Amino acid sequence: MTADHEPAVAILGLGAMGGALATAVLDGGRTTTVWNRSAARIVALAGRGAIPAETARDAVRSSPLLVVCLFDHDSVHAVLDPIAGELAGRTVINLTTTTPVEARELAEWAARQGAAYLDGGIMAVPAMIGQPDASVLYSGSADIFHQHRSLLDLWVTASTWVPMPVRLPCMTWHCSRACT
Ligand SMILES: NC(=O)c1ccc[n+]([C@@H]2O[C@H](COP(=O)([O-])OP(=O)(O)OC[C@H]3O[C@@H](n4cnc5c(N)ncnc54)[C@H](OP(=O)(O)O)[C@@H]3O)[C@@H](O)[C@H]2O)c1
Repeated sequence: MTADHEPAVAILGLGAMGGALATAVLDGGRTTTVWNRSAARIVALAGRGAIPAETARDAVRSSPLLVVCLFDHDSVHAVLDPIAGELAGRTVINLTTTTPVEARELAEWAARQGAAYLDGGIMAVPAMIGQPDASVLYSGSADIFHQHRSLLDLWVTASTWVPMPVRLPCMTWHCSRACT
C-alpha cells in the first residue's frame, strides 16, 4: 500500500498511451511498477520515480492491481498467457483497445485465471490523459470500477461504467483498424 493507503499499481505497456497513463499514476503519488517489451521506454518512467520491472512476471508479482495498455488483443495474450499462473487474486484493468468480442474473451480468460477484470475503452489521445475532457468507457466488474475509482480518476474526468462491452466509434484519428 502507498502512503495514502491506495494499492500499488503495476503497468504493463508504456507506449504513447501506456506511458501517459503511467505518468498520471506517478503524478498521483501511487507506488508504480512499470514494464515494457522494449526497455528504453522503462527508463524514462523510472526517471520519474517508477519502479522498473525486468520482466512482465516481475511486474505482476509486484502489485495486486495491474494496468495493461498494449497494442491489441493479441499482444495482451502474448504478454499475459505465459504468466497466467501469477494472476490469481489480482485485479486486471485492461485499457488496450479491443472489440467487444475480444473484451468478453479477455474477461472470461481472466476469470479462469482467478483474476478480477475491468475493460476500458479510452476516448482520448495521450496528451489528454490527466486533463479535462478525456473519458473512458468501462465494462466488466462494477465492483472493480467502484473500488478503484480513485485510480481511474487520475486519468480522465469522465469514467463511465456500462454492463457489457460496447462498440465504440474510434476516437483516434491515426488508427487504421476496422474494429468490429
Ligand atoms: N494513442 C492513442 O491516441 C490511443 C487512443 C485511444 C486508445 N489507444 C489504445 O491504447 C493502446 C496502446 O496504444 P499506444 O498509442 O500506446 O500504442 P503504441 O505507442 O504503439 O504502444 C504499443 C505498446 O504495445 C507494446 N506491444 C505491442 N505488441 C506487443 C507484443 N507482441 N508483446 C509485448 N508488447 C507489445 C509496445 O511495446 P514496445 O514499446 O516494445 O513496442 C508498446 O508498449 C492501443 O490499444 C490503442 O488502440 C490509443
